[in-house]
Amino acid sequence: MRQLLGHISHFGQVDGGVRYVFEGNAKRNGTKEDMMRAVVIQSFGDPSGMALIDVPDPTPAADEVVIDSSAIGVGGVDAVIRRGTLGGYGFTEGHIPGSEVSGLVSAVGADVDASWIGRRVWAFTGTGGGYVERAVATIGNVVPLPDGLSPVDAVTLGSAAPVAHFGLAHAHFAAGESVLIRGAAGSIGIAAVQLAAQGGANVIAVTSSSAERGRRLRELGATHVLDRAGDGDPAASGSFDVIFDIVGGEQMPTFFDRLEPNGRMVTVGMVAGMPPADFGMHLLRAFQKSRSFATFSLDTVPVSLRDEVRVEQFAAAADGRLRSVVHEVLPLDQAVEAHRQMDAGSVFGRIVLVP
Ligand SMILES: NC(=O)c1ccc[n+]([C@@H]2O[C@H](COP(=O)([O-])OP(=O)(O)OC[C@H]3O[C@@H](n4cnc5c(N)ncnc54)[C@H](OP(=O)(O)O)[C@@H]3O)[C@@H](O)[C@H]2O)c1
Repeated sequence: MRQLLGHISHFGQVDGGVRYVFEGNAKRNGTKEDMMRAVVIQSFGDPSGMALIDVPDPTPAADEVVIDSSAIGVGGVDAVIRRGTLGGYGFTEGHIPGSEVSGLVSAVGADVDASWIGRRVWAFTGTGGGYVERAVATIGNVVPLPDGLSPVDAVTLGSAAPVAHFGLAHAHFAAGESVLIRGAAGSIGIAAVQLAAQGGANVIAVTSSSAERGRRLRELGATHVLDRAGDGDPAASGSFDVIFDIVGGEQMPTFFDRLEPNGRMVTVGMVAGMPPADFGMHLLRAFQKSRSFATFSLDTVPVSLRDEVRVEQFAAAADGRLRSVVHEVLPLDQAVEAHRQMDAGSVFGRIVLVP
């Protein structure tokens, strides 16, 4: 339900995300025409802590563009931030979640070529600022959309598929190897299943015990499907060359024991939270197996290289070589419902919000 909470005096970047600062209900400078709708986290925890409010239309800084959003991706990280587990990273109440949007450029800053206006684009907005009608992004985080790729598909792949590509590269994945993917049913996992299979891997997907999720992952390229404990298919090999992990959590170290000698685990996300503090002991106890563990963040890839791969992946999606899996498209004012579904674990692929 729409709520108008009061005037927001200004907004600024917090760790790459946008935080709006409230001054209360008494003062409102903006007129209806220069306001837009935004979803804000008023209290961390349950999805009901989010509300739809009115905020001033953004004005781009010199190196920024404004995008009239047609589609907004609901990422796993949005739910992790909303649950309040990343307070240590500087997220505070008042945060607008969402990190990727797609739509038309409607305004540009002083240093941005005006020819961007009117172009269909995908953009990374940082660790927040996405759940709005008009989003702001620095021009370095904006990529044009090819003909044939919808904004909805763009926000399903735009962040997820590069994480899958570079995360697999970080694991030194090679054709012919076995790759176990934990958290395979999310956007990053679905992209990783496809890319690893296309790269010649024997792909083992880990998902909750649902025959339907397993069937869909096989359709995307998985050769075997295991349950969250890593069991459930006697025909699957017991150990793997690469483990691509989006889950983390308490069970993560047990998967070290499933690495082949010289096997590599790369963690790109921790949707189940942090692993136990002594998780490295599993690696040390099996010293002679020369296993290794690494984290991977897209932040360490130069922007130009990320964009090069993203442009290739968008082209692949436009001509059907890479599939985007959209769980559901919901209106922006249904953000709470989107997060409820994320928390319930019923999402396969990505939920997309449309203003
Ligand atoms: N490294 C980077 O550069 C980068 C960039 C963007 C995002 N991220 C990270 O990637 C993660 C989000 O990825 P995503 O959007 O693909 O994930 P997601 O959709 O939130 O979750 C992926 C899958 O993980 C499984 N899962 C969820 N909770 C679990 C639990 N408690 N235990 C075991 N499995 C669980 C679920 O599948 P089943 O129910 O089928 O098991 C879910 O579909 C976040 O941690 C985010 O910070 C990293």
